[in-house]
Amino acid sequence: MASVLLVEDDASLREVLAMFLRKQGHEVAVASSFEEGLSLVNDASFDLVLTDLKLGQKSGLDILSHVKREQPETEVIVITAYSTVETAIEAMKGGAFDYVGKPFKLEEIAVTIEKALEKRALSLENITLRRALLERYRFDQIIGKTPKMQQIFETIARVAPTKTSVLITGESGTGKELVARAIHFNSARKTGPFVVVNCAAIPDTLMESELFGHVKGAFTGAHTSKRGLLETANGGTVFLDEIGELSLAMQVKLLRFLQEHTIRAVGSTKEVKVDVRVVAATNKDLVEAVRAQRFREDLFYRLNVVHINMPPLRERREDIPYLASHFLEKFRKELSKDVRGFAPDVMERLMSWNYKGNVRELENIIEHAVTFATGPLVTMDALPEHLKGEKASPLSAIDQVTKVEKDGVDMESVLAEVERRLLVNALSQAKGVKKDAAALLNISFRSFRYKLAKYGLAPTPTSEELEQDE
Ligand SMILES: Nc1ncnc2c1ncn2[C@@H]1O[C@H](COP(=O)(O)OP(=O)(O)OP(=O)(O)O)[C@@H](O)[C@H]1O
Ligand SMILES: [Mg+2]
Repeated sequence: MASVLLVEDDASLREVLAMFLRKQGHEVAVASSFEEGLSLVNDASFDLVLTDLKLGQKSGLDILSHVKREQPETEVIVITAYSTVETAIEAMKGGAFDYVGKPFKLEEIAVTIEKALEKRALSLENITLRRALLERYRFDQIIGKTPKMQQIFETIARVAPTKTSVLITGESGTGKELVARAIHFNSARKTGPFVVVNCAAIPDTLMESELFGHVKGAFTGAHTSKRGLLETANGGTVFLDEIGELSLAMQVKLLRFLQEHTIRAVGSTKEVKVDVRVVAATNKDLVEAVRAQRFREDLFYRLNVVHINMPPLRERREDIPYLASHFLEKFRKELSKDVRGFAPDVMERLMSWNYKGNVRELENIIEHAVTFATGPLVTMDALPEHLKGEKASPLSAIDQVTKVEKDGVDMESVLAEVERRLLVNALSQAKGVKKDAAALLNISFRSFRYKLAKYGLAPTPTSEELEQDE
């Protein structure tokens, strides 16, 4: 059941329509003039407004613009006896859901009404989602409804006020840096600095001086003395991103810092006490790195006092609608576009996508969708090309083949099998003509024949044969 306002100055049509709508179970308010219509819109909110285009001297388009201003989520259908292209375009531009030309069959308008109400229900759902997410399902800037995320929020809340070191692990784009910031900004140090050190971006030769600083003349090129990042972070938090990339030599120095809370600039003999909280992150398997002796075990334990593992987005799909709504809100403001929700098939696709790039990928998809959206709902054609159409199956063939299981895969044999099958398929496509098969694979005939031989699909070509191909 929906609340419908009907604005129609033709008494008989008004009665027929009102009766029909009531029979369908809707609650119907009727207005017989433009003025009456406006005052009803001011007094109550409706799910749907049906308005005649010509209301005495006044225009239903003004009802439309009034409704869209006062109750933007309300859908409007314009009824017109003068169904010109111009008025239709004007109505749609004004935000009408649709327009219906007189005379019409009741079944016809019933379908349009149903569609309009569906859309209305959907945008309401989007609004409810957004409200829920503003209240319950977020911690600072971090969105998450699933138990896994709620648990992470709890850990953050508990660990933030302490000075404990935290190690955050997880695939790229899962929100590690976001969590590090939340830890800092929910601690007593929040007014202190939050300093990010990307261990992968700083060359190893510069790392020590970046972290600990150096004095003038400490090495060639050190024309002035420079304060290190750990000292800059004094009183705050240092976020050591991609900690797995730190060299063994630097690991020793960092460990010493964590134990003694002092730093010594390169070229200096003076120890300086600093008060810094350390949060580290990595998308590498540090336990494995410890086993392979690429990462010091003692440092690992120092950093890993509290461990937060960010689950990949595909393992918490129920968060997707909330994240999507959050990003929709973000980009609709940034791009000043009046997009309010997602069409059902779009949400379905978003829910089933595999997100190798996790939340970052979803964020990029929504930015693209908002940029290309043409109406109040994001529709399929606004999605990035690779998400459209059949190909977007969540576990495509290539994903299956390239999946790395817990106990590992033998990459060489997987690649060899892929190559072998491509050769066989190309040969069959080319009806056994090798030159054509090579062309299908976009490789030289020579290399094709060599590969055939490699997989035992043809005798090894003689060196003479190979020369002939040149
Ligand atoms: N739960 C979340 N809620 C809202 N936004 C999120 C969430 N998780 C990630 N994001 C957003 O996704 C993007 C990537 O997050 P972030 O940079 O924290 O990931 P990361 O794990 O550090 O990735 P990388 O390993 O590639 O550095 C950011 O724009 C961040 O704001
Ligand atoms: Mg990061």
